[in-house]
Amino acid sequence: MDDKVMSGAELREIRGSKDQQQFADLLNRQFDRKYDRATISRWESGAARIPQMISSALRAQSAGSVKGIPAVSDRPGLVMACVNQKGGVGKTTSVVNIAYLLATSGLRVLVVDCDPQANASIHLGVDVNERERAKLTLTHALFGSGSMVDSILHIDVGAGTIDILPSHISLANADAEILAEPNGTLLLREKLGECRTAYDVILLDCPPNMGQLTVSSLNAADLVLIPSQTEVLSFMGLTMLMETISKVQRRVNPKLKVLGILPTSHQPRRQQDKKILEELTELAAVSRCRLFSPVRNSAGYPKGALAGKPAIQLDPDIAGIEAYREVVAALVAALPQQEGAKHVA
Ligand SMILES: Nc1ncnc2c1ncn2[C@@H]1O[C@H](COP(=O)(O)OP(=O)(O)OP(=O)(O)O)[C@@H](O)[C@H]1O
Ligand SMILES: [Mg+2]
Repeated sequence: MDDKVMSGAELREIRGSKDQQQFADLLNRQFDRKYDRATISRWESGAARIPQMISSALRAQSAGSVKGIPAVSDRPGLVMACVNQKGGVGKTTSVVNIAYLLATSGLRVLVVDCDPQANASIHLGVDVNERERAKLTLTHALFGSGSMVDSILHIDVGAGTIDILPSHISLANADAEILAEPNGTLLLREKLGECRTAYDVILLDCPPNMGQLTVSSLNAADLVLIPSQTEVLSFMGLTMLMETISKVQRRVNPKLKVLGILPTSHQPRRQQDKKILEELTELAAVSRCRLFSPVRNSAGYPKGALAGKPAIQLDPDIAGIEAYREVVAALVAALPQQEGAKHVA
């Protein structure tokens, strides 16, 4: 990646037919800055230096760039965090398979692996150790000098492409680093600003705890999806999770909404699963959020993880696909004037 700051002429070319004020407004929306027409003019004439972060992000986003990230648009992508502090409830499986359905529907999708376990990255076939050696993981995107877009990788999933910002176990130190930063739990939100307009949907795969990475994800998100297995232990922490979401809504991120609760690994013939599903229905009603149809238990999901591919890519008729389609339809309905929506069946 070329780290040289772009010239004024290159910037003018990227600005295209927008006037300098319109371009400043676009950058302000995308990067949460306060630039004006005069700043753009100084950058283009060479009287002031273009900030490195703006330069790298624009270069990567501009059409035909080496990284192939789609061009800057006016519309920031919708950010959805997949959250549950309980481990093994299907967060990663849901992110990977929802990303697959979105990507193969013609939408531009980015998965940000916010979990030091790096399961989403590995599930999508990424060699995370190699990425870490090249300093191209979320750890470096958050705390290093590079930009977020430099670390994004394109994964070909047959009928589409999933972009991923991979993780690595090195992210396990993130909590301390986030706490050491002023307003550190807003760092992810700020960094995502570099690439939000290049995607329709950005999916955040969260770790199984309510630590700083999960809070950062809730601060950065528009929507939360809560996968929960239909078994007692998975269900128990949900009330606490709903309370945390309410606090984030009140204090930091008032636009945050719960897209819904997604029951996973469901075995409809088991008595216990039926009972928990009833309780989940009640919880969803009390919390005024949607309960999606349950994703049925299927050996195809762990098989996909082992093969490094979305299970739905390996088996388009896999049990539970209807539930994932329901989530995708809800996501698409939440996209503002989304052109891609018409591609989704
Ligand atoms: N519908 C399903 N049927 C059967 N197995 C499933 C299903 N969904 C997920 N699994 C399996 O359950 C295990 C846990 O799933 P997953 O890794 O997605 O959970 P997670 O919540 O991301 O876990 P962690 O909290 O550790 O990040 C995996 O082996 C996965 O393949
Ligand atoms: Mg996971």
